[in-house]
Amino acid sequence: MPFTLVVYGATGDLASRKLFPALYTLYREGALDDWRMIGFARREWNDDTFRSEISKSLDRSGFDSTARDAFLSRCSYIRSEFDDPKGYASLAESISDQRELIHYLATTPDNYRKIVERLGAAGLARLRSAATRVVVEKPFGRDGNEAQKLNRYIAERFDEESIFRIDHYLGKETVQNIAVFRFGNSIFEPVWNNAHIEFVEITVAEAVGVETRAAYFEKSGALRDMVQNHILQLLALVAMEPPSSLTADAIRDEKVKVFRSLRSLDSAAIARDTVRAQYGAGIVEGNSVPAYRDEKGVSPGSVAETYAALKIHLDSWRWAGVPFIIRTGKRLSRRLSEITVHFKAPPIDLFPRGWTGGNKLVFRIQPDEGLTLYLDTKIPGLQDKSRSVSMDFLYGTGFGIPSPEAYERLLLDALIGDGTLYTRRDEVESSWAFIDPIRKAWDENVSPLRSYEAGLSGPSESVQLPLSFGKTWRRL
Ligand code: BG6
Repeated sequence: MPFTLVVYGATGDLASRKLFPALYTLYREGALDDWRMIGFARREWNDDTFRSEISKSLDRSGFDSTARDAFLSRCSYIRSEFDDPKGYASLAESISDQRELIHYLATTPDNYRKIVERLGAAGLARLRSAATRVVVEKPFGRDGNEAQKLNRYIAERFDEESIFRIDHYLGKETVQNIAVFRFGNSIFEPVWNNAHIEFVEITVAEAVGVETRAAYFEKSGALRDMVQNHILQLLALVAMEPPSSLTADAIRDEKVKVFRSLRSLDSAAIARDTVRAQYGAGIVEGNSVPAYRDEKGVSPGSVAETYAALKIHLDSWRWAGVPFIIRTGKRLSRRLSEITVHFKAPPIDLFPRGWTGGNKLVFRIQPDEGLTLYLDTKIPGLQDKSRSVSMDFLYGTGFGIPSPEAYERLLLDALIGDGTLYTRRDEVESSWAFIDPIRKAWDENVSPLRSYEAGLSGPSESVQLPLSFGKTWRRL
């Protein structure tokens, strides 16, 4: 179907780092038919400047110039304020009613409402003759209340099936594989419950600091930036019941049930089971790095957390009694995102040397995408000794083809109207309902802000979370 993609905030970082390279890859792979892209932003650019900026972004992403001119000839630019009706009028003029229209909001969130309102007024939202969709970047609100308001506001102009709320973790190949692993195989699902699983551990560690995004991060912190969306989505995929089909709604129904079963944390639990912290100076991957408070754009007295860890329970039959421990942080020793499912020890330990800590299944989301299963195994020899060995599956060697970037898959899905890897209104609202009391309690200092040295594994206080049931975090 012919379509026009309009990127609001096309002069920004997200557009040049993620969207243009993703669109270019899709184009080169022949995934797009008849299409146009219009950049809509405030900077005094014209079609030529826009095309040359896109070209630079493709250079930065390492693309050669094959097909570049043909690609660029489909791109044009409209300069406008986001609340200026004239900009939307010229947009309306340049769009044929027969083409599908995808509005991509890649601006800062304070512009979302203005843009959506203007789109409605200019007849560029629902009720066009061809399909019309809106893609909304994160963060989706700063809390549940704001998320609800934004949802209502957009729902006045677009139908839910036309609203695509991004969580780019859902576009990662290894994250999509969680559902295939669980429901496309028969051997794990029978043991995927509290009779066999002792606890689940989710880590999203980054080596990078706040980079150029201090203005945003100061208001957000790690809880809003990473936990409310990416980490809770990972948790939902691990914990959800099998969906009745692979339709977007069937899958999202199951994820919503998980969010609704999250046991809400009261003050005592927040003080005991949550840790928030901020990085101090240190050495990351061999380089000295400043403390968060000394980063450009960060207030010297900032209390924004760059690390968050929680112990969570799900009140469901499947998961009653199984702790989920989650942690995320910037400026940790390395970049590592993984989910580890720790299975229980055998009911009777027949072997004199004791169990070495046994069966674990690790979903390695990044880097070294793949799966590892740990098993206790006898060491060859005359003595009865055993140790843990691993069975590994590596995407890199297993398939011999590189995994697509999350944004390629997500963009394509928005263009063809498949919302499976996007979040639904009730998912966003129910995940905020779990986060809001924690955020509020943290703001009231119920759990003090801790600190950690950059380049290590986070604040020492977080050991308490797994230690409360006799375990430790996996080494970073
Ligand atoms: C973004 C957060 O959503 O995800 C960033 O806003 C974070 O703070 C990023 O760095 C991590 O994404 P990835 O794909 O690099 O793990």
